[in-house]
Amino acid sequence: MQVFLEKTVSSQLDPRWLAPRPDGFPRIGTMLLQANLISPSQLQTVLEGQNPEDPEDLTGTLLIEQGVIGAGELLTFLHQKLLEEQQAYRDNPPPAPAIQFRGVEKHLDGRKVLDGVDLAIPAKRITAIIGVSGGGKSVTLKHIIGLMAPDKGDILIGDQNITGMDAKRLNLIRRRFGMLFQGGALFDSMNVFDNVAFPLRENARLPEDEVARRVHTSLREVNLATMGHKFPDELSGGMLKRAALARALVVRPEFILLDEPTAGLDPIIENAIHHLICDTYMRTRYTMVFISHAVPEIFNWCHHVVALHQGKVLASGPALEIRRSNDPVLKQFINGELTGPIKVI
Ligand SMILES: Nc1ncnc2c1ncn2[C@@H]1O[C@H](COP(=O)(O)OP(=O)(O)OP(=O)(O)O)[C@@H](O)[C@H]1O
Ligand SMILES: [Mg+2]
Repeated sequence: MQVFLEKTVSSQLDPRWLAPRPDGFPRIGTMLLQANLISPSQLQTVLEGQNPEDPEDLTGTLLIEQGVIGAGELLTFLHQKLLEEQQAYRDNPPPAPAIQFRGVEKHLDGRKVLDGVDLAIPAKRITAIIGVSGGGKSVTLKHIIGLMAPDKGDILIGDQNITGMDAKRLNLIRRRFGMLFQGGALFDSMNVFDNVAFPLRENARLPEDEVARRVHTSLREVNLATMGHKFPDELSGGMLKRAALARALVVRPEFILLDEPTAGLDPIIENAIHHLICDTYMRTRYTMVFISHAVPEIFNWCHHVVALHQGKVLASGPALEIRRSNDPVLKQFINGELTGPIKVI
């Protein structure tokens, strides 16, 4: 009887919600349904009022808000899915990269900071960039978003070469990115709402009620729905990172770049931010690139890893492979050892 009832309700669900998303990824509601963590009727309740064409999958947020599933339970489930995807990614990496560097060189203050970097960042996956301090990670991210230009080599976003691109076209490319800078870089004089609204007001010229709607959605997504009126100096380190993530998300970019989103946070908050990044990815399926010092944990939170060392790519590949690398530099870095090819003392 129960099975019959569930089937009946399931057949009443809008079929668009059970079909894969247009980008081919499964919907969060479908995954939860298949895992028997929610019932079709619970899913039906939260889906009403949602727009299936909306690029953001808010099902998880709504299920939590309506008390159907606990936040911890959902985040743990999504992380489990990411771990399963890591294996699929290792066995079948997607063919077309979203971002490519070809022989990129950059001198800063007379020093060669990037020394012939060749990179391929997979589309619609999470890539972590790791490496010792000063190895060129932030500089690499700034090249991706066009804040720095290479002295030599090419940078491609999709099939567009941004090297030498004029300012107007580069600005259009930049709008496809959401960026969380190292340190958060919120404006101290603005409250959280205005900080998150900033990129929308600057570029998108949306009516204020649409700005408010989108800011509110982004704040809900990072669990800061009631914090819009707070100023940055009233927030904890973890909240600041979440507000900065909301600001990166609000423009609904194709790419999200995060420069050390967990730096300076205690291990619990670091873990919470990793879960939040995973949740953001599962909802949006944006191409995400983040720099992290959180080794070896980081290998559990991404599909692909790029290790930069002394301005070159030391290793690039599926997280599950790089983790097992026998490269002495990589092993020393991953294990945090004092002795080895990297001279620290
Ligand atoms: N604007 C700049 N002008 C001059 N030198 C710079 C500039 N930005 C970075 N550098 C130098 O380039 C090198 C790489 O810097 P980068 O910030 O990319 O390192 P990183 O790998 O991000 O390190 P960390 O892990 O400490 O953040 C460093 O030696 C740094 O001093
Ligand atoms: Mg840096």
